[in-house]
Amino acid sequence: MKVDVILGLQWGDEGKGKIVDVFAPQYDIVARFQGGPNAGHTVEFDNKKFILHTIPSGIFHPKTINVIGNGVIIDPFNLMKEIQQLKDSGIRPEENLLISKRAHLILPTHRVLDMAYESLKGQTKIGSTLKGIGPTYTDKAGRNGLRMGIIASGDFTEKYHQLKKSHGEILGCYGFKLAEQCIEELPFDVYEQKWFDSINELKSYALIDSEEYLNKSLDEGKSILAEGAQGSMLDVDFGSYPYVTSSTTISAGVCAGLGISPHRIGKIFGIFKSYCTRVGAGPFPTELCDETGEAIRNSGREFGSTTGRPRRCGWLDLPALKYSIMLNGVDSLIMMKADVLSSFETIKICTHYKEKNKITASFPFDLSSETLEPVYANLDGWQKPLRDIESFTEIPQELTTYLNYIEDALGLPIDIVSIGPDRTQTLKKQVL
Ligand code: GDP
Ligand code: IMO
Ligand code: MG
Repeated sequence: MKVDVILGLQWGDEGKGKIVDVFAPQYDIVARFQGGPNAGHTVEFDNKKFILHTIPSGIFHPKTINVIGNGVIIDPFNLMKEIQQLKDSGIRPEENLLISKRAHLILPTHRVLDMAYESLKGQTKIGSTLKGIGPTYTDKAGRNGLRMGIIASGDFTEKYHQLKKSHGEILGCYGFKLAEQCIEELPFDVYEQKWFDSINELKSYALIDSEEYLNKSLDEGKSILAEGAQGSMLDVDFGSYPYVTSSTTISAGVCAGLGISPHRIGKIFGIFKSYCTRVGAGPFPTELCDETGEAIRNSGREFGSTTGRPRRCGWLDLPALKYSIMLNGVDSLIMMKADVLSSFETIKICTHYKEKNKITASFPFDLSSETLEPVYANLDGWQKPLRDIESFTEIPQELTTYLNYIEDALGLPIDIVSIGPDRTQTLKKQVL
């Protein structure tokens, strides 16, 4: 068997959580391969709404095993909060959640460093979720990090304090004192104690060599779905650097983030919204800073799942999508939130960029150039509600034209169209 992949092709929040939940019953295992609690993956069913940050979105299906892979970074406080919320709703994550021993820990001081670095950047701040992502991946690459596998060892507390001390020294150089900081609105010391309490609670969860488990499962004929976090435009190499996250969000990240050979990667599903959003700072060529952008935001309820911040909204960007498809080797497309554009008479799609009177369909090195302008095609809107449609055959003609236009431009089929947040509001072209 091979590992299929679901990942976001834009700037995150494409609807990965919803689709992973829809696909999960067809897979034995769902595994997250990168990112951390900066992710916010929403799953809705039976009038209930859950937002997952670290736990894979297959958790609501008891027969599906959910693995937090080695490429993920874990904040014990956040993870235990998430586990508790699920338990309060009758879900039993202790029965189908496995955690890699090699996943790195987000320390309280990583979160303080994140805040400090952002505030030092001033006008050029990234708009980080402040979950400690950048500093934790920095320590991983710098070979200073602490991994889940050591939480039960005798010298864990000593190693923690060594790293905390060196973080404190860095913070001190910039004039930040740990004792004066708050995390999650709690004084540092109080938060730190809760962080240690969470570590203790996590000891009762299955900490495994996930790369061994996943490869053995494939050998035994089990199916695996890898769940991406963030989106390709936030990838540390190929996103709009430096306005990116600190992990490899593209399909190549699956291999390193789960310990899987490239030979074992199967089908790659790329998810995009029928328009674009971005939360945080950084270039966004098709952004609409007007009442149309506001209308998309209100109709799509575009507010961050992790931070609650309003998401910036704009028209679909085909050059950016083409670039993402190339990077990921996408086989099949999934378009989300078609219903959000139902009220628009005309819908624009960016087909090219114009830079200094030159038209190009290529994705530029510097997306932030002030002279870069999107070139649009205008398509008729469908102006009909979609939420009660039950099959592809009932899709309004104008939406079919919109889908065909995108498929032709990208050279790939759109196999799923999502028409609402609930798991049932999902139209499949064929059995996948
Ligand atoms: P993720 O990070 O990619 O999992 O996406 P998020 O959960 O952050 O954001 C997607 C948002 O859109 C969530 O609030 C979903 O409930 C919602 N959503 C997903 N699919 C649809 C859809 O087809 N239509 C509408 N209106 N909302 C959707
Ligand atoms: P999901 O998985 C949207 C953005 C942040 C910021 C930048 C860096 O829900 O799609 P970080 O906290 O990683 O240092 O932030 O990346 N960002 C996301 N935007 N969806 C996400 O995840 C994101 N994770 C990070 O807003 O601009
Ligand atoms: Mg999200």
